[in-house]
Amino acid sequence: MKRSKRIEALDRRAVNQDAFIDEWPEMGFAAMRSPYDPKPSVRVENGVITELDGKQRADFDFLDQFIADYAIRIDRAEASMAVSSLEIARMIVDIHTTRKEVLELISGITPAKMVEVVNYLNVVEMMMGMQKMRARRVPGNQAHITNLKDDPVQIAADAAEGALRGFREEETTTGVARYAPFNAIALLIGSQAGRRGVLTQCSVEEATELDLGIRGLTTYAETLSVYGTEKVFIDGDDTPYSKAFLNAAYASRGLKVRFTSGAGSEVLMGSSERKSMLYLECRCLYVTKGAGTQGIQNGSVSCVGVAAAVPAGIREIMGENLVAALLGLECASSNDQTFSHSDMRRTARTMLQFLPGTDFIFSGYAAEPNYDNMFAGSNFDAEDFDDYNVLQRDMQVDGGLRPVTEEEVIRVRREAAKAVQAVFRYLGLTEITDEQVETVVYAHGSKDTLKRDVASDLMAADDLMKRGITGVDIVRALAETGYVDLAESILNMLKQRVIGDYMHTAAILDEQFQVMSGVNTPNDYLGPGTGYRVTGKRWEEIKAVPHRIDVNEF
Ligand code: 5AD
Ligand code: CA
Repeated sequence: MKRSKRIEALDRRAVNQDAFIDEWPEMGFAAMRSPYDPKPSVRVENGVITELDGKQRADFDFLDQFIADYAIRIDRAEASMAVSSLEIARMIVDIHTTRKEVLELISGITPAKMVEVVNYLNVVEMMMGMQKMRARRVPGNQAHITNLKDDPVQIAADAAEGALRGFREEETTTGVARYAPFNAIALLIGSQAGRRGVLTQCSVEEATELDLGIRGLTTYAETLSVYGTEKVFIDGDDTPYSKAFLNAAYASRGLKVRFTSGAGSEVLMGSSERKSMLYLECRCLYVTKGAGTQGIQNGSVSCVGVAAAVPAGIREIMGENLVAALLGLECASSNDQTFSHSDMRRTARTMLQFLPGTDFIFSGYAAEPNYDNMFAGSNFDAEDFDDYNVLQRDMQVDGGLRPVTEEEVIRVRREAAKAVQAVFRYLGLTEITDEQVETVVYAHGSKDTLKRDVASDLMAADDLMKRGITGVDIVRALAETGYVDLAESILNMLKQRVIGDYMHTAAILDEQFQVMSGVNTPNDYLGPGTGYRVTGKRWEEIKAVPHRIDVNEF
């Protein structure tokens, strides 16, 4: 066939490198609804749910049972289910219905009913819903802090810069698993050098992650994964009960925890039971709520390629974020793993969470160049910082970040790198040279830094775990080497675990280590003129993007 030059030009566009597939519910490729989704129903007998979404108790799988027993307000169920799904959808958007009233009503509905409610909402209505239903008054943002070399000096410097730029939570993971303790310590120290009160976590194999948390080398945990079908849960050697137990293990030591779930995981693992992604994700979110954890990282997350390939997949992602908020959970709303070659498409997708604001708009903004992101690339990375700052300024929206100056960036990167050097020396870990510190201070990513002695690093990392090093040892090392402010910050992070307030829904800490959560600073949006607005000091901060004409200089 003779080719049209117009079509050829379109074929070359970035968006056409993305994957798209028709709906195919038999294989789980259905975003918002599947013909095989159950119809909503509930029956309560003697205070027990005996029928859930068309299934009798005798036929329940372990998700149904867990949801029926722990995730639905049984005393409310029949009354809530009697309200029509359309009416509930309207209340979510209606500025005359408070967040509290919606939470109360929703607490009695079933997963299939939730699917029906969300299907009534278009994306703008979902955003209106999120603006009201988000738990915390002020939105936040979370960063990935990783690099190809697992270089602790770069982790510390990137963490400091990320914290300075406004991230309230920072997470790392490893290229080589045995680096985990180094990465966790570098992140803990670096984050506080950028801005006090930033929470940190190290996402690794569950037993190691729990160990790091109990030792006080991390201050929250996030990747406790849950899935929407029994088969997929079992493939991961888990059940809702085992996840609830793991949650309790963290909580017993005063650590903030959230779970992770999202559309597409069941499709990828080959057991979607022909159900829609939204229905399966509702089941995940009910399990999350039933397990008693305060929040969720969701919005397809690492399975975004699947959700984004089907019609209304991006709408579904926003839908599942909204469901999290409707269940009263903190929502770290993805915008995480990269899913598109198109700048237009990746930005448009982010607007759904950016414009209304969520508890964490990104559950993993890459605060390093794409090639250094060991979680797999993110939707936005370090190269996008200024684009993002300009978007905040253009729309007067608080996306959780702020412009910074080059001087500040260099200053906090150096302080973090030098503090890690001092702690490593004090604890007798691997040598960090002055040259390494200086290179990292000015680096964009690990391609600009020096080689590390991996064998020595891994031996020292193993050794520090064997020696029983804890957060208190880090505090002591910092104090003894002259980093008193950093020592105090980390001591304060450890104190939070005794106080416990930062385990409340959607908690973050300000620079005075005061908790801001859905409990003490709840979202009070109720239409125009109410709720959080970008004003005052924060607006001045957002306005000051680099490369503007500074009228004071005329
Ligand atoms: N469902 C469940 N868990 C997920 N994770 C990411 N996406 C999903 C999802 N859709 C979790 C996994 C992964 C980590 C980065 O987050 O545990 O390893
Ligand atoms: Ca994350």
